[in-house]
Amino acid sequence: MKLVARRALIAAALSLPAFAALAAPLTMGFSQVGAESEWRTANTASIKSAAKEAGITLKFADAQQKQENQVKAIRSFIAQKVDVIAFSPVVESGWDTVLKEAQKAGIPVILTDRAVKVSDPSLYVTFIGSDFVEEGRKAARWLLERAAKTPGAALNIVELQGTVGSAPAIDRKKGFEEILKTNPKLQIIRSQSGEFTRAKGKEVMESFLKQRDKKIDVLYAHNDDMAIGAIQAIEEAGLKPGKDIVIISIDGVRGAFEAMKAGKLNVTVECNPLLGPQLMQLAKDVVAKKPVDKRITVIEGVFPAEVAAKELPNRKY
Ligand code: AHR
Repeated sequence: MKLVARRALIAAALSLPAFAALAAPLTMGFSQVGAESEWRTANTASIKSAAKEAGITLKFADAQQKQENQVKAIRSFIAQKVDVIAFSPVVESGWDTVLKEAQKAGIPVILTDRAVKVSDPSLYVTFIGSDFVEEGRKAARWLLERAAKTPGAALNIVELQGTVGSAPAIDRKKGFEEILKTNPKLQIIRSQSGEFTRAKGKEVMESFLKQRDKKIDVLYAHNDDMAIGAIQAIEEAGLKPGKDIVIISIDGVRGAFEAMKAGKLNVTVECNPLLGPQLMQLAKDVVAKKPVDKRITVIEGVFPAEVAAKELPNRKY
């Protein structure tokens, strides 16, 4: 082929949209739940730094724990024609309409951290996050092992649930109860949402402590922040957290390790927020139409107070 003709061919190819897309940096619209917990702060930091590292332009929106704000953000990402939308849904239900709009616009959607209940699973490409049911099971297994040291003893448990209707609140309750029912001596006597925040965790624990009809032996908090809030309420009530009331929580944030080191929290079940690097790689694969798994689960551990001092310096969040 003559040089002029070859140059003309290359020039034509470079003007094709596919080539233009290859040259432009990928744009991701990300709708975050909010800033309700230490976990969430670490998750946001991970996403922002990983996007930078991966050369992905990130349009970040904080929904302040409101589904309506997430719907608005997703619609604005669609209008801006981003390459990919990722979000951590505040609650499980009510996403069909907006996800159909994204699908119609040809924009792939990745779920991170929390799952959704939708009529058609093709409305999102993939989900990356923890197995919340398993986290609940791990929390209950730890308690059962501890209870086995005093066979036959009855234990009254109070539960601080996460945000009403959210996947972690629903699943952590489900997993915990599934294992708990194997020992009828262990009973949940009170259960209420503390909205995943320290302030609400403290407030609800105060109200649990005021109802003096039954002694509270154990607190199961769906996240560390609520447990830390509850610890304050327990101390203000003149009791010793971690001793008079055994405390189990979920996340494994630095604050929980500090509380364990101080003897005020008994165990935390890990929920890893550092999803940024995996999410960015997934986004690149999804946009490049590479096959990806429908569900990508993060591997996590359980940290009892006995290992807190040794583990604290290794914690990354
Ligand atoms: O979805 C993950 C949960 O959300 C974390 O356990 C909690 O701390 C956060 O707010």
